[in-house]
Amino acid sequence: MAKKSMTFTDNTTGKSYEYPVLDGTRGPSVVDIRTFYKDTGMFTYDPGFTSTASCESKITFIDGGKGELRYRGIPIEELAKNNTYLEVCYLLLNGRLPDRQEAEAFDLEIRHRSFVHEGLKNLIESFPSAAHPMAILSSSVSALASFYYEHLDINNEAEYQEMARRIIAKIPTLAAFAYRHSLGIPFIYPDISRSFTENFLYMMRAYPHERMKITPEGEQQVSQVEIDALDTIFTLHADHEQNASTTTVRGVASTGAHPYVAISAGISALWGRAHGGANESVIAQLEMIGDVKKVPEYIARAKDKNDPFRLMGFGHRVYKNFDPRAKVLKKLQDQLKEELHLDAKLLEIAHEIEQIALHDDYFVSRNLYPNIDFYSGVILYALKIPRPMFTPIFVIGRTVGWVAQWIEFKKDPASKIARPRQLYTGA
Ligand code: CMC
Repeated sequence: MAKKSMTFTDNTTGKSYEYPVLDGTRGPSVVDIRTFYKDTGMFTYDPGFTSTASCESKITFIDGGKGELRYRGIPIEELAKNNTYLEVCYLLLNGRLPDRQEAEAFDLEIRHRSFVHEGLKNLIESFPSAAHPMAILSSSVSALASFYYEHLDINNEAEYQEMARRIIAKIPTLAAFAYRHSLGIPFIYPDISRSFTENFLYMMRAYPHERMKITPEGEQQVSQVEIDALDTIFTLHADHEQNASTTTVRGVASTGAHPYVAISAGISALWGRAHGGANESVIAQLEMIGDVKKVPEYIARAKDKNDPFRLMGFGHRVYKNFDPRAKVLKKLQDQLKEELHLDAKLLEIAHEIEQIALHDDYFVSRNLYPNIDFYSGVILYALKIPRPMFTPIFVIGRTVGWVAQWIEFKKDPASKIARPRQLYTGA
């Protein structure tokens, strides 16, 4: 038996069973109950996995009590301040930050891989123009699996790293195409002279054959302030350990399906408003409230157990303190207020909600703090990104996390098909 263990006693039979307790490098220890059913003939019951560690991981660490988030050991605040999103991608995939040469090579490769097969254009064009870009993204990423179905040997480092870089590079192009399709305007192909984040804004905004320059002037230009803001948003979304969409990706991976199909399933899981869809709902909610005077009325509705209304952008399964990503974005909001002409009315309503909620016993006693989605929407709005594209922005940032977790799952000898059991209460 391991040094630390936990004993479980069945009161009916009086039998005791001992289970090893495993320590991680940080965070709560876990009770290893893998033989529990074999030993006791019983299952454990944990809807929503509130007490379950589904895997061992070395990628991301969250301390929900302290409000701490680290990628590969590095605090998110440092990465948001000192590194580009692509450097963070390299870190998540390789376990360390790149040196200058490695960063340049990675950046160049991502630029070259940003084009998508012309067949995907036909697929996207077949969607109704009112289709939500998340539906188009999920379908086109799934379709990518049929264009790249070879060279996926998990024992071959070069192959799966190439698979990872390819999907990171193509996601912004697919997202921009999905957006332009909804407007019925021609697709803009990637311009490899532009950086990852600039290129995405360019593909969203440019006119065909237009050469846009980085200057803060002019309606159709992409400014460095905008590029930096969006790059930070991508970094803050890059990974978040075993959240609902990542658990979906690992679940699909466990059946042996293609990694891009697993990521497509992750996109679908992210779409819901309890998860990534919240960023779109936050702005919709602020617009619905419409006036700072109406905030108390909506706070009262959020507290009313008979009303399904919830404050979007508040609460988190893991954070029982300020979401550290939200802190970075709140600071960014303050910095960009003037530069990006953030919507003063929306900001005023958001500020009032935040102030009331942070002092109201309902929210305080339940540890309901603003999360990342509460602040990202107002910035994305100022970047002239339309509301249905908010969750696709989350997808662009999170793709690296999903693919890094897919790789980790595949390499872990303890991985098994995800197959929980149930407490049957039917006829
Ligand atoms: N407004 C009002 N009450 C809330 C809210 C909210 N936003 N969130 C939780 N509560 C209450 C809930 O009613 C419950 O109260 P009680 O204990 O009296 O029954 C208590 O707080 C605990 O909530 P829960 O639903 O059991 O918590 P959970 O961990 O299952 O859910 C959550 C977490 C994020 C789904 C939930 O807080 C929520 O729906 N928030 C709004 C949506 C949102 O902002 N989602 C984005 C999450 S951050 C981005 C990401 O990583 O996906």
